[in-house]
Amino acid sequence: MNIVLGVTGGIAAYKAVALARLLVEAGHEVHVVPTEDALRFVGKPTWEAISRRSVTTSVHEDVPEVRHVALGQRADLVVVAPATANALARMTAGIADDLLGTTLLATRAPVLVAPAMHTEMWEHPATQDNVAILRSRGVEFVGPESGRLTGDDSGPGRMSEPEAIAVRVEQLLSGSERGDEAEPADLRAPEDVPASEEAASEGFRGLDEAPSAETPADLEGVRILVSAGGTREPIDPVRYLGNRSSGRQGVAVAAAAADRGAKIVLLAANIDDAVLADVVSNPAVRVVPVGSAAELEAAARAASAGADAVIMAAAVADYRVADVAGQKIRKEDSGGRAPTLALVENPDILAGLVRERRPGQVLVGFAAETVESEGELLERGRRKLARKGVDLLAVNAVGWDEGFESSENTLHLIGADGSLVDTVGGTKREAAEGLVDAVADLIRDR
Ligand code: C5P
Repeated sequence: MNIVLGVTGGIAAYKAVALARLLVEAGHEVHVVPTEDALRFVGKPTWEAISRRSVTTSVHEDVPEVRHVALGQRADLVVVAPATANALARMTAGIADDLLGTTLLATRAPVLVAPAMHTEMWEHPATQDNVAILRSRGVEFVGPESGRLTGDDSGPGRMSEPEAIAVRVEQLLSGSERGDEAEPADLRAPEDVPASEEAASEGFRGLDEAPSAETPADLEGVRILVSAGGTREPIDPVRYLGNRSSGRQGVAVAAAAADRGAKIVLLAANIDDAVLADVVSNPAVRVVPVGSAAELEAAARAASAGADAVIMAAAVADYRVADVAGQKIRKEDSGGRAPTLALVENPDILAGLVRERRPGQVLVGFAAETVESEGELLERGRRKLARKGVDLLAVNAVGWDEGFESSENTLHLIGADGSLVDTVGGTKREAAEGLVDAVADLIRDR
Protein backbone atom coordinates (compact mmCIF):
# COMPACT_ATOMS: atom_id res chain seq x y z
CA MET A 1 0.00 0.00 0.00
CA ASN A 2 1.01 3.59 -0.53
CA ILE A 3 1.63 5.35 2.78
CA VAL A 4 2.64 8.97 3.35
CA LEU A 5 4.49 9.34 6.64
CA GLY A 6 4.39 12.98 7.75
CA VAL A 7 6.99 13.78 10.40
CA THR A 8 6.79 17.02 12.37
CA GLY A 9 9.35 18.73 14.57
CA GLY A 10 9.56 16.95 17.88
CA ILE A 11 12.14 14.79 19.57
CA ALA A 12 9.92 11.74 18.96
CA ALA A 13 10.89 12.06 15.26
CA TYR A 14 13.64 9.56 16.07
CA LYS A 15 10.95 6.97 16.88
CA ALA A 16 9.34 7.64 13.49
CA VAL A 17 12.49 6.18 11.93
CA ALA A 18 11.61 2.82 13.50
CA LEU A 19 8.02 3.24 12.31
CA ALA A 20 9.18 3.92 8.73
CA ARG A 21 11.32 0.80 8.88
CA LEU A 22 8.41 -1.35 10.15
CA LEU A 23 6.15 -0.08 7.36
CA VAL A 24 8.78 -0.67 4.68
CA GLU A 25 9.44 -4.16 6.05
CA ALA A 26 5.70 -4.87 5.95
CA GLY A 27 5.92 -4.29 2.17
CA HIS A 28 4.45 -0.78 1.95
CA GLU A 29 5.62 2.04 -0.30
CA VAL A 30 6.52 4.70 2.26
CA HIS A 31 6.84 8.37 1.26
CA VAL A 32 8.34 10.32 4.14
CA VAL A 33 7.30 13.99 4.23
CA PRO A 34 9.15 15.75 7.05
CA THR A 35 8.59 19.38 7.96
CA GLU A 36 11.60 21.70 7.98
CA ASP A 37 11.57 21.50 11.77
CA ALA A 38 11.54 17.71 11.74
CA LEU A 39 14.79 17.76 9.75
CA ARG A 40 16.48 19.45 12.73
CA PHE A 41 15.88 16.24 14.68
CA VAL A 42 16.44 13.62 11.98
CA GLY A 43 18.18 14.52 8.72
CA LYS A 44 17.13 13.83 5.14
CA PRO A 45 19.73 11.10 4.46
CA THR A 46 18.25 8.95 7.25
CA TRP A 47 14.72 9.24 5.84
CA GLU A 48 15.95 8.55 2.31
CA ALA A 49 17.93 5.49 3.38
CA ILE A 50 15.10 4.03 5.47
CA SER A 51 12.30 4.71 2.97
CA ARG A 52 14.51 4.03 -0.07
CA ARG A 53 13.02 7.11 -1.75
CA SER A 54 13.97 10.74 -2.22
CA VAL A 55 12.58 13.09 0.38
CA THR A 56 11.55 16.72 0.16
CA THR A 57 9.75 19.22 2.35
CA SER A 58 9.09 21.75 -0.34
CA VAL A 59 6.14 22.31 -2.66
CA HIS A 60 8.54 23.80 -5.23
CA GLU A 61 10.35 20.58 -6.10
CA ASP A 62 9.09 18.10 -8.71
CA VAL A 63 6.69 20.77 -9.95
CA PRO A 64 5.91 19.00 -13.28
CA GLU A 65 4.73 16.00 -11.27
CA VAL A 66 2.45 18.28 -9.20
CA ARG A 67 4.00 16.56 -6.20
CA HIS A 68 2.28 18.85 -3.69
CA VAL A 69 -1.07 17.23 -4.44
CA ALA A 70 -0.02 13.96 -6.10
CA LEU A 71 1.35 12.45 -2.89
CA GLY A 72 -1.93 13.00 -1.08
CA GLN A 73 -4.07 11.87 -4.00
CA ARG A 74 -2.16 8.61 -4.44
CA ALA A 75 -1.93 7.74 -0.74
CA ASP A 76 -3.91 4.86 0.77
CA LEU A 77 -3.17 6.26 4.21
CA VAL A 78 -1.47 9.33 5.66
CA VAL A 79 0.22 8.96 9.04
CA VAL A 80 1.53 11.96 10.97
CA ALA A 81 4.03 10.75 13.60
CA PRO A 82 5.03 12.53 15.68
CA ALA A 83 2.36 15.23 15.52
CA THR A 84 3.34 18.23 17.65
CA ALA A 85 0.81 20.63 19.18
CA ASN A 86 1.76 23.05 16.41
CA ALA A 87 1.15 20.37 13.75
CA LEU A 88 -2.32 19.65 15.16
CA ALA A 89 -3.14 23.37 15.12
CA ARG A 90 -1.94 23.68 11.52
CA MET A 91 -3.94 20.62 10.46
CA THR A 92 -7.07 22.01 12.11
CA ALA A 93 -6.65 25.33 10.32
CA GLY A 94 -5.79 23.66 7.01
CA ILE A 95 -2.50 25.55 6.66
CA ALA A 96 -0.74 24.43 3.51
CA ASP A 97 2.57 26.28 3.22
CA ASP A 98 4.69 23.15 3.04
CA LEU A 99 4.51 19.74 1.40
CA LEU A 100 2.91 18.02 4.39
CA GLY A 101 0.22 20.71 4.61
CA THR A 102 -0.72 20.43 0.92
CA THR A 103 -0.61 16.63 1.08
CA LEU A 104 -3.03 16.57 4.01
CA LEU A 105 -5.45 18.86 2.19
CA ALA A 106 -5.22 16.95 -1.08
CA THR A 107 -5.83 13.51 0.35
CA ARG A 108 -9.10 11.63 0.66
CA ALA A 109 -7.34 8.74 2.38
CA PRO A 110 -7.71 7.99 6.10
CA VAL A 111 -5.39 10.07 8.27
CA LEU A 112 -3.81 8.64 11.42
CA VAL A 113 -2.15 10.99 13.89
CA ALA A 114 0.28 10.07 16.70
CA PRO A 115 0.58 13.13 18.95
CA ALA A 116 3.74 13.82 20.96
CA MET A 117 4.20 16.80 23.25
CA HIS A 118 4.52 17.84 26.87
CA THR A 119 1.54 17.13 29.10
CA GLU A 120 0.65 20.80 29.56
CA MET A 121 0.55 21.33 25.81
CA TRP A 122 -1.56 18.18 25.26
CA GLU A 123 -4.03 19.17 27.98
CA HIS A 124 -4.29 22.80 26.91
CA PRO A 125 -7.84 23.60 25.74
CA ALA A 126 -6.44 24.86 22.41
CA THR A 127 -4.92 21.45 21.68
CA GLN A 128 -7.92 19.54 23.01
CA ASP A 129 -10.27 21.65 20.86
CA ASN A 130 -8.09 20.96 17.82
CA VAL A 131 -8.16 17.23 18.58
CA ALA A 132 -11.96 17.35 18.89
CA ILE A 133 -12.30 19.12 15.54
CA LEU A 134 -9.91 16.73 13.80
CA ARG A 135 -11.73 13.72 15.27
CA SER A 136 -15.05 15.12 14.10
CA ARG A 137 -13.56 15.23 10.59
CA GLY A 138 -12.75 11.54 10.86
CA VAL A 139 -9.05 11.84 11.67
CA GLU A 140 -7.91 8.81 13.70
CA PHE A 141 -5.64 9.11 16.72
CA VAL A 142 -3.21 6.70 18.30
CA GLY A 143 -1.92 7.78 21.71
CA PRO A 144 -0.46 9.79 23.22
CA GLU A 145 0.64 7.44 25.97
CA SER A 146 1.37 8.40 29.51
CA GLY A 147 5.03 8.04 30.47
CA ARG A 148 8.45 9.59 30.61
CA LEU A 149 8.77 12.73 28.46
CA THR A 150 11.86 14.64 27.37
CA GLY A 151 13.48 16.12 30.45
CA ASP A 152 12.43 15.10 33.95
CA ASP A 153 8.68 15.23 33.56
CA SER A 154 6.28 12.44 32.85
CA GLY A 155 2.55 12.29 32.05
CA PRO A 156 0.32 12.00 29.00
CA GLY A 157 2.06 13.22 25.84
CA ARG A 158 4.49 10.49 24.94
CA MET A 159 4.20 9.24 21.36
CA SER A 160 2.88 5.68 21.02
CA GLU A 161 5.51 3.07 20.31
CA PRO A 162 6.22 2.44 16.61
CA GLU A 163 4.86 -1.13 16.91
CA ALA A 164 1.52 0.14 18.26
CA ILE A 165 1.27 2.75 15.48
CA ALA A 166 2.07 0.08 12.89
CA VAL A 167 -0.78 -2.09 14.24
CA ARG A 168 -3.22 0.82 13.81
CA VAL A 169 -1.89 1.43 10.30
CA GLU A 170 -2.69 -2.16 9.33
CA GLN A 171 -6.16 -1.93 10.89
CA LEU A 172 -6.96 1.22 8.97
CA LEU A 173 -5.60 -0.16 5.71
CA SER A 174 -7.73 -3.27 6.11
CA GLY A 175 -10.72 -0.95 6.62
CA SER A 176 -11.61 -2.63 9.90
CA GLU A 177 -12.14 0.56 11.85
CA ARG A 178 -13.79 2.59 9.15
CA GLY A 179 -15.88 0.24 7.08
CA ASP A 180 -18.08 -2.74 7.74
CA GLU A 181 -15.44 -5.42 7.32
CA ALA A 182 -14.55 -7.51 10.33
CA GLU A 183 -11.36 -6.80 12.23
CA PRO A 184 -8.57 -9.31 11.77
CA ALA A 185 -9.31 -12.17 14.14
CA ASP A 186 -6.13 -11.79 16.15
CA LEU A 187 -6.93 -8.19 17.10
CA ARG A 188 -10.12 -8.78 18.99
CA ALA A 189 -11.35 -11.04 21.73
CA PRO A 190 -11.92 -14.54 20.39
CA GLU A 191 -15.18 -16.29 19.49
CA ASP A 192 -17.64 -14.49 21.73
CA VAL A 193 -18.04 -11.43 19.47
CA PRO A 194 -20.66 -12.89 17.13
CA ALA A 195 -22.91 -14.14 19.98
CA SER A 196 -23.38 -10.71 21.55
CA GLU A 197 -23.50 -8.98 18.17
CA GLU A 198 -26.26 -11.35 17.07
CA ALA A 199 -28.19 -10.85 20.30
CA ALA A 200 -27.82 -7.08 19.99
CA SER A 201 -28.97 -7.11 16.37
CA GLU A 202 -32.31 -8.49 17.61
CA GLY A 203 -32.51 -4.90 18.81
CA PHE A 204 -35.84 -3.78 20.21
CA ARG A 205 -37.91 -6.44 18.40
CA GLY A 206 -40.24 -8.41 20.64
CA LEU A 207 -39.80 -6.23 23.73
CA ASP A 208 -42.99 -5.30 25.58
CA GLU A 209 -43.50 -1.93 27.13
CA ALA A 210 -43.82 -2.36 30.88
CA PRO A 211 -44.47 1.02 32.50
CA SER A 212 -44.69 0.92 36.27
CA ALA A 213 -47.89 2.02 37.94
CA GLU A 214 -46.09 4.69 40.00
CA THR A 215 -44.37 6.62 37.20
CA PRO A 216 -45.74 8.54 34.19
CA ALA A 217 -45.47 6.47 31.00
CA ASP A 218 -44.06 9.43 29.07
CA LEU A 219 -41.43 7.27 27.31
CA GLU A 220 -43.92 4.69 26.03
CA GLY A 221 -42.50 2.97 22.95
CA VAL A 222 -39.26 4.99 22.96
CA ARG A 223 -36.27 2.71 22.19
CA ILE A 224 -33.20 3.33 24.31
CA LEU A 225 -29.84 1.59 24.06
CA VAL A 226 -27.98 1.61 27.38
CA SER A 227 -24.47 0.31 28.06
CA ALA A 228 -23.35 -0.44 31.59
CA GLY A 229 -20.52 -2.07 33.51
CA GLY A 230 -16.86 -2.20 32.61
CA THR A 231 -15.11 -3.89 29.71
CA ARG A 232 -12.39 -6.51 30.16
CA GLU A 233 -9.53 -6.63 27.69
CA PRO A 234 -8.05 -10.12 27.42
CA ILE A 235 -4.33 -10.67 27.97
CA ASP A 236 -4.46 -14.45 27.58
CA PRO A 237 -7.24 -17.03 28.06
CA VAL A 238 -7.26 -16.51 31.85
CA ARG A 239 -6.33 -12.86 32.45
CA TYR A 240 -7.65 -9.46 31.54
CA LEU A 241 -7.26 -5.70 32.05
CA GLY A 242 -10.39 -4.33 33.69
CA ASN A 243 -11.83 -1.52 35.76
CA ARG A 244 -13.91 -1.15 38.92
CA SER A 245 -17.26 -0.24 37.35
CA SER A 246 -20.05 -2.36 38.91
CA GLY A 247 -22.71 -1.44 36.36
CA ARG A 248 -25.11 -0.27 39.11
CA GLN A 249 -25.60 3.24 37.69
CA GLY A 250 -26.22 2.05 34.12
CA VAL A 251 -28.60 -0.70 35.23
CA ALA A 252 -30.49 1.88 37.32
CA VAL A 253 -30.81 4.08 34.20
CA ALA A 254 -32.19 1.11 32.21
CA ALA A 255 -34.68 0.29 34.97
CA ALA A 256 -35.80 3.90 35.41
CA ALA A 257 -36.40 4.37 31.67
CA ALA A 258 -38.22 1.02 31.39
CA ASP A 259 -40.52 2.04 34.25
CA ARG A 260 -41.53 5.04 32.16
CA GLY A 261 -42.51 2.81 29.24
CA ALA A 262 -39.25 2.75 27.19
CA LYS A 263 -37.97 -0.38 25.47
CA ILE A 264 -34.39 -1.04 26.48
CA VAL A 265 -31.46 -2.95 25.01
CA LEU A 266 -28.93 -3.14 27.83
CA LEU A 267 -25.35 -3.99 26.83
CA ALA A 268 -24.07 -5.41 30.10
CA ALA A 269 -20.29 -5.49 30.37
CA ASN A 270 -19.29 -7.95 33.09
CA ILE A 271 -22.08 -7.13 35.54
CA ASP A 272 -22.85 -9.34 38.55
CA ASP A 273 -26.16 -11.20 38.44
CA ALA A 274 -27.17 -9.53 41.71
CA VAL A 275 -26.90 -6.10 40.05
CA LEU A 276 -28.76 -7.29 36.94
CA ALA A 277 -31.56 -8.79 39.08
CA ASP A 278 -33.42 -5.45 38.82
CA VAL A 279 -33.91 -5.80 35.06
CA VAL A 280 -33.48 -9.42 33.86
CA SER A 281 -37.12 -10.35 34.22
CA ASN A 282 -38.45 -7.03 32.90
CA PRO A 283 -40.22 -7.74 29.56
CA ALA A 284 -39.20 -4.28 28.34
CA VAL A 285 -35.47 -4.94 28.75
CA ARG A 286 -33.20 -7.13 26.60
CA VAL A 287 -29.94 -7.80 28.43
CA VAL A 288 -27.02 -8.50 26.08
CA PRO A 289 -23.86 -9.59 27.92
CA VAL A 290 -20.61 -8.27 26.43
CA GLY A 291 -16.98 -8.70 27.49
CA SER A 292 -14.35 -6.59 25.77
CA ALA A 293 -14.55 -3.13 24.18
CA ALA A 294 -14.49 -4.76 20.72
CA GLU A 295 -17.51 -6.83 21.65
CA LEU A 296 -19.28 -3.82 23.12
CA GLU A 297 -18.56 -1.86 19.95
CA ALA A 298 -19.97 -4.57 17.67
CA ALA A 299 -23.09 -4.93 19.82
CA ALA A 300 -23.55 -1.14 20.12
CA ARG A 301 -23.30 -0.70 16.36
CA ALA A 302 -25.77 -3.53 15.78
CA ALA A 303 -28.37 -2.14 18.19
CA SER A 304 -27.91 1.62 17.75
CA ALA A 305 -29.53 1.78 14.31
CA GLY A 306 -32.96 1.17 15.83
CA ALA A 307 -32.50 3.36 18.91
CA ASP A 308 -34.10 6.73 19.57
CA ALA A 309 -31.51 7.39 22.27
CA VAL A 310 -28.18 5.88 23.29
CA ILE A 311 -26.89 6.22 26.86
CA MET A 312 -23.30 5.02 27.17
CA ALA A 313 -22.79 4.48 30.88
CA ALA A 314 -20.23 1.66 30.48
CA ALA A 315 -16.62 2.22 31.44
CA VAL A 316 -14.86 1.26 28.22
CA ALA A 317 -11.16 0.43 28.28
CA ASP A 318 -9.21 3.01 26.31
CA TYR A 319 -6.57 0.43 25.43
CA ARG A 320 -6.44 -3.27 24.65
CA VAL A 321 -3.53 -5.68 24.53
CA ALA A 322 -1.88 -5.63 21.09
CA ASP A 323 -1.19 -9.38 20.94
CA VAL A 324 -3.55 -11.53 22.97
CA ALA A 325 -1.67 -14.73 23.88
CA GLY A 326 -3.40 -17.91 22.70
CA GLN A 327 -2.08 -19.83 25.71
CA LYS A 328 -1.67 -18.83 29.34
CA ILE A 329 1.50 -16.74 29.76
CA ARG A 330 3.66 -18.81 32.13
CA LYS A 331 6.18 -17.45 34.61
CA GLU A 332 8.48 -20.38 34.02
CA ASP A 333 8.71 -19.46 30.30
CA SER A 334 9.68 -15.83 31.00
CA GLY A 335 13.40 -16.41 31.54
CA GLY A 336 13.19 -14.56 34.87
CA ARG A 337 12.10 -11.28 33.22
CA ALA A 338 8.75 -9.59 33.83
CA PRO A 339 6.81 -9.47 30.55
CA THR A 340 5.90 -6.15 28.93
CA LEU A 341 2.38 -5.69 27.59
CA ALA A 342 2.13 -3.61 24.40
CA LEU A 343 -1.22 -1.81 24.24
CA VAL A 344 -3.12 -0.33 21.33
CA GLU A 345 -5.88 2.23 21.56
CA ASN A 346 -9.49 1.09 21.37
CA PRO A 347 -11.81 3.02 19.08
CA ASP A 348 -14.02 5.52 20.91
CA ILE A 349 -17.38 3.78 20.52
CA LEU A 350 -19.45 6.78 21.54
CA ALA A 351 -17.60 9.13 19.18
CA GLY A 352 -18.24 6.57 16.39
CA LEU A 353 -21.97 6.51 17.20
CA VAL A 354 -22.01 10.32 17.14
CA ARG A 355 -20.41 10.28 13.66
CA GLU A 356 -22.99 7.78 12.40
CA ARG A 357 -26.02 9.06 14.29
CA ARG A 358 -29.38 8.88 12.59
CA PRO A 359 -31.50 12.04 12.41
CA GLY A 360 -33.13 12.90 15.73
CA GLN A 361 -31.18 10.32 17.72
CA VAL A 362 -30.15 11.52 21.20
CA LEU A 363 -26.66 10.56 22.37
CA VAL A 364 -25.61 10.64 26.01
CA GLY A 365 -22.17 9.96 27.46
CA PHE A 366 -20.81 9.46 30.94
CA ALA A 367 -17.55 10.78 32.32
CA ALA A 368 -16.10 9.46 35.55
CA GLU A 369 -13.26 11.71 36.67
CA THR A 370 -10.81 11.85 39.57
CA VAL A 371 -10.68 15.56 40.46
CA GLU A 372 -9.74 17.96 43.25
CA SER A 373 -12.83 20.17 43.06
CA GLU A 374 -16.29 20.46 41.54
CA GLY A 375 -15.01 23.27 39.32
CA GLU A 376 -12.37 20.96 37.86
CA LEU A 377 -15.01 18.23 37.41
CA LEU A 378 -17.24 20.53 35.37
CA GLU A 379 -14.32 21.92 33.37
CA ARG A 380 -13.13 18.42 32.46
CA GLY A 381 -16.73 17.47 31.65
CA ARG A 382 -17.15 20.42 29.30
CA ARG A 383 -13.96 19.58 27.45
CA LYS A 384 -15.00 15.94 27.14
CA LEU A 385 -18.42 16.95 25.87
CA ALA A 386 -16.80 19.07 23.16
CA ARG A 387 -14.50 16.19 22.19
CA LYS A 388 -17.28 13.62 22.00
CA GLY A 389 -20.00 15.77 20.41
CA VAL A 390 -22.80 14.25 22.54
CA ASP A 391 -26.13 15.91 23.42
CA LEU A 392 -25.68 15.38 27.16
CA LEU A 393 -22.79 14.28 29.35
CA ALA A 394 -23.34 12.91 32.86
CA VAL A 395 -20.23 13.71 34.87
CA ASN A 396 -19.42 12.20 38.25
CA ALA A 397 -16.45 12.14 40.58
CA VAL A 398 -14.73 8.84 41.27
CA GLY A 399 -11.87 7.87 43.53
CA TRP A 400 -10.56 5.13 45.76
CA ASP A 401 -13.68 5.32 47.93
CA GLU A 402 -16.08 7.22 45.70
CA GLY A 403 -18.30 6.25 42.78
CA PHE A 404 -17.83 2.56 42.12
CA GLU A 405 -19.05 0.21 44.84
CA SER A 406 -21.17 2.89 46.47
CA SER A 407 -24.97 2.82 46.19
CA GLU A 408 -25.09 6.65 46.03
CA ASN A 409 -24.02 8.97 43.26
CA THR A 410 -24.18 12.56 42.08
CA LEU A 411 -24.41 13.29 38.35
CA HIS A 412 -23.75 16.72 36.88
CA LEU A 413 -25.61 16.89 33.58
CA ILE A 414 -23.89 19.08 30.98
CA GLY A 415 -25.84 20.08 27.87
CA ALA A 416 -24.55 20.28 24.30
CA ASP A 417 -23.82 24.00 24.71
CA GLY A 418 -21.70 23.35 27.81
CA SER A 419 -24.30 24.60 30.28
CA LEU A 420 -25.04 22.74 33.50
CA VAL A 421 -28.56 21.38 32.83
CA ASP A 422 -29.05 19.82 36.27
CA THR A 423 -27.29 18.14 39.17
CA VAL A 424 -29.08 14.98 40.23
CA GLY A 425 -28.25 12.51 42.96
CA GLY A 426 -29.06 10.47 45.97
CA THR A 427 -29.26 6.72 45.46
CA LYS A 428 -28.07 5.55 42.04
CA ARG A 429 -31.74 4.96 41.19
CA GLU A 430 -32.57 8.58 42.10
CA ALA A 431 -29.64 9.85 40.05
CA ALA A 432 -30.86 7.66 37.17
CA GLU A 433 -34.34 9.15 37.37
CA GLY A 434 -32.88 12.65 37.15
CA LEU A 435 -30.86 11.65 34.10
CA VAL A 436 -33.86 10.02 32.43
CA ASP A 437 -35.84 13.26 33.01
CA ALA A 438 -33.19 15.18 31.07
CA VAL A 439 -33.10 12.57 28.30
CA ALA A 440 -36.90 12.62 28.06
CA ASP A 441 -36.74 16.42 27.61
CA LEU A 442 -34.21 16.03 24.79
CA ILE A 443 -36.32 13.36 23.07
CA ARG A 444 -39.41 15.55 23.37
CA ASP A 445 -37.57 18.52 21.82
CA ARG A 446 -36.45 16.56 18.74
O1 C5P B 1 -13.11 9.51 27.48
P1 C5P B 1 -13.89 8.75 28.48
O2 C5P B 1 -13.55 7.28 28.52
O3 C5P B 1 -13.93 9.34 29.86
O4 C5P B 1 -15.38 8.86 27.93
C1 C5P B 1 -16.43 8.30 28.63
C2 C5P B 1 -17.63 8.10 27.72
O5 C5P B 1 -17.22 7.61 26.45
C3 C5P B 1 -18.55 7.06 28.30
O6 C5P B 1 -19.87 7.39 27.86
C4 C5P B 1 -18.03 5.79 27.67
O7 C5P B 1 -19.05 4.80 27.63
C5 C5P B 1 -17.62 6.26 26.29
N1 C5P B 1 -16.45 5.57 25.70
C6 C5P B 1 -16.61 4.86 24.54
N2 C5P B 1 -15.53 4.24 23.96
C7 C5P B 1 -14.31 4.32 24.51
C8 C5P B 1 -14.12 5.06 25.70
C9 C5P B 1 -15.22 5.66 26.28
O8 C5P B 1 -17.73 4.80 24.03
N3 C5P B 1 -13.30 3.70 23.93
